[in-house]
Amino acid sequence: MQGDSRVRPRPQRWLPVAVLASACAWTLLIASPLAWAGDSVDAVFTMPQSVSDTPFSSERDAVVWRREELKEIESLVRQLRFDLVNNQDAEAAAPRLAELQERASAEHLLPAFIEGTHGSGSEARPSIWAEWDNFTAGFNDLESHVNALVEAAHGEDYRGAARALSDVATTCRSCHRVYRYR
Ligand code: HEC
Repeated sequence: MQGDSRVRPRPQRWLPVAVLASACAWTLLIASPLAWAGDSVDAVFTMPQSVSDTPFSSERDAVVWRREELKEIESLVRQLRFDLVNNQDAEAAAPRLAELQERASAEHLLPAFIEGTHGSGSEARPSIWAEWDNFTAGFNDLESHVNALVEAAHGEDYRGAARALSDVATTCRSCHRVYRYR
């Protein structure tokens, strides 16, 4: 495992532990208890303003981590298109869907968007923090399309899955157009 460059530390494994163990600031940052309510995707997330609000050890770590996560999300979505549209194989898709649901969520990604972490090594635009609610709404939107994808795959509704995948792709692009330098 050590030699495999694809295996990286994954803060999400211990994020919930950190939150529970320390009752740290991050608990308070989640403005709405709806953030924990499964299907609900209209939760409001308060901006992490410094590293100490998050499980990361530095701003740089947070930036590197979020970029790796987004790349993983991109490859999961690509693989899911293959599973569900090309192969119509919901069984093969199931573990990847579970992983996508965990990773492509506001709760998972937003702690890494610490205020002001744009600039060198990042493609993030500074307007993310000026328009925080609009930015976070993009991830809530993504979650709802991922939920729709999971439901369609669960019911082996492959047309529905194709539609949900295209909604997911549209959500990625819309956010990138506004909040990512390319
Ligand atoms: C709400 C906004 C938002 C949504 C939704 C979003 N992204 Fe992004 N994405 C960003 C931002 C901001 C960056 C730049 C992050 C950075 O460089 O610090 C980014 C960067 C990326 C990168 C580049 C990572 C790298 O290291 O080169 C990939 C790949 C990516 N996103 C894929 C996706 C995919 C796939 C989706 C949809 C499933 C998606 N994103 C949805 C905001 C978003």
